[in-house]
Amino acid sequence: MKRDFLTLWDLSSDEIEAVLKRAIALKAGKDASKCPLIGKSIGLLFEKASTRTKVSFEVGIHQLGGQPVYMTSQEIQLGRGETVADTAKTLSRYLSAVIIRTFEQEKIEEFAFHSSVPVINALTDLHHPCQGLSDLMTILEKKGRLKGIKLAYIGDGNNVANSLIEASSRMQINLTIACPEGLEPNPDVLERARENAKSEIIILRETKEAAGMADVIYTDVWVSMGQEEMTEGKKRKLAKYQLNNALLSCAKEDAVVMHCLPAKRGQEITDEVMDSPRSIVFDQAENRLHSQKALLEFLLVSRP
Ligand code: CP
Repeated sequence: MKRDFLTLWDLSSDEIEAVLKRAIALKAGKDASKCPLIGKSIGLLFEKASTRTKVSFEVGIHQLGGQPVYMTSQEIQLGRGETVADTAKTLSRYLSAVIIRTFEQEKIEEFAFHSSVPVINALTDLHHPCQGLSDLMTILEKKGRLKGIKLAYIGDGNNVANSLIEASSRMQINLTIACPEGLEPNPDVLERARENAKSEIIILRETKEAAGMADVIYTDVWVSMGQEEMTEGKKRKLAKYQLNNALLSCAKEDAVVMHCLPAKRGQEITDEVMDSPRSIVFDQAENRLHSQKALLEFLLVSRP
């Protein structure tokens, strides 16, 4: 049976652990000459801009011996009104998997329902599970463990925050999110994560309380793609939620700084924090490549 990766719930804790272990081995150069995707073409259907996700998937597929087929919805008939179902059924006849970046989570779920090949969520308005997988790999690499880590997320309760909640619940990370009223993470995501969590998932208002004794401190842009009209109102609410040196000083002395990028320097994060030796944002970006290669192997190579 095909496996999709639409949220982090689509992999068990043991499966995530196995994918992370494999990602670290791939990063170390293991099996660099093997081409497990040889003869396979993998679609990338993107309805939003991307630097990291697009390039890391394209390069990763190439390194695994496969062929990436990139398309925007405007380049195919989907942009002219062909249904999601008909597009999914057609692309399934050519491709071994489809990686999708779109707006509504429901749209990727509909696509996956009609697709006979695995579908991978490359970001929706609700989730960013590939980012979450790479974040877990980066924390594991830098801190040597996931269980019991204190992760503080500062700012907008957006899709990245939602996936961090699921990642934390799955891997027993203690997550504290500091966000303004009205910009909390999705309540259904939060409820499911708390029901399944063996760790703490806390939402509060005070940034310093969240950052206190944190091992990892994480932020993201205040204005997500497709939500630009909310800029001014959101900016006012988020003004006190900047990751700067004063806030970083509340975390542990060896705390590291994460940001999924792209960053709006001077807004949610200052230059001095982003460029400090404690910032691991570019390792985090690099790990998109390794973790996604491990994910592709998991979904496509070990099953028919
Ligand atoms: N973090 C992330 O998804 O980056 P891109 O939008 O550049 O793909």
